[in-house]
Amino acid sequence: MVIMDGKEVSEALKRKITAEVDKMVSAGRRRPKLVAVLVGDDGASQVYVGHKERACGQVGFDSEVVRMPASTTADELNAVIDRLNADDSVDGFIVQLPLPGHLSEEAVIERISPLKDVDGFHPETTGRMISGLDAYLPATPAGILELIKYYNIETAGKHCVVIGRSNIVGRPIANLLSMKGYPGDCTVTLCHSRTADLKEIVRGADIVIAALGKAHFVTADMIKEGAVVIDVGITRIADPSKKSGFRIAGDVDYDNVAPKCSYITPVPGGVGPMTIACLMQNTLKAAERRTKR
Ligand code: GUN
Repeated sequence: MVIMDGKEVSEALKRKITAEVDKMVSAGRRRPKLVAVLVGDDGASQVYVGHKERACGQVGFDSEVVRMPASTTADELNAVIDRLNADDSVDGFIVQLPLPGHLSEEAVIERISPLKDVDGFHPETTGRMISGLDAYLPATPAGILELIKYYNIETAGKHCVVIGRSNIVGRPIANLLSMKGYPGDCTVTLCHSRTADLKEIVRGADIVIAALGKAHFVTADMIKEGAVVIDVGITRIADPSKKSGFRIAGDVDYDNVAPKCSYITPVPGGVGPMTIACLMQNTLKAAERRTKR
């Protein structure tokens, strides 16, 4: 069994990005700039945005976090998005999700210029991706593809079962792995909360991607011997023995599942760091496009 080390792979990817930034700067161009908009005080979102800001520093990007209170109105958030869309010093920006309940995530995502949509969430970006055109891939699915490539995992003809149908992970990764070429050519089944015989379907999988957000949902009895298991879950579980008061659990019962796998991602240290590195990659791509415009 091989543990897929997202920390190592993401560091390698970030080193490549840093080298590209160094070249840009040597050629007299400005550094790429990523802005994150954080509305409200969701604890996990604050941590993720902190990680994104730190990664920007690591790869030599400029970055900024726009912090707005939970009481922010749609008009106020729209004004910030419009300003960032128009600001030539900003290559890409993200609005961290989830948003407070009174704000429409769909409306916010649609307002972001597709040119700066480094999250890859805009419907125009999604449409391009699904059509197989050049597009910003959403960072978590892109990170999963990078891990598969790094470990040279065979995908052609494999049965891949994705659990979870979110726009951010489940649906895009199901789509990407069904595409022609590598990593792709999979036969994909997309399972969700209404799937009948879910356990039976997962048991038939060569590759399992767990992205439903339920701690330790995938148990050893659901896994075929030799399967590849990729765990996208990050759920906080109360743990008074920790200074923070919680620990992070994946969607996979790692201790019991790992011995049956050929490859598995740990949580933390698997998909999470890859997501951040792929956001950096999208921002670099946005900056390269800007300099070509
Ligand atoms: N919330 C959870 N994952 C993400 C992500 O990749 N981007 C944004 N903007 N919000 C998220």
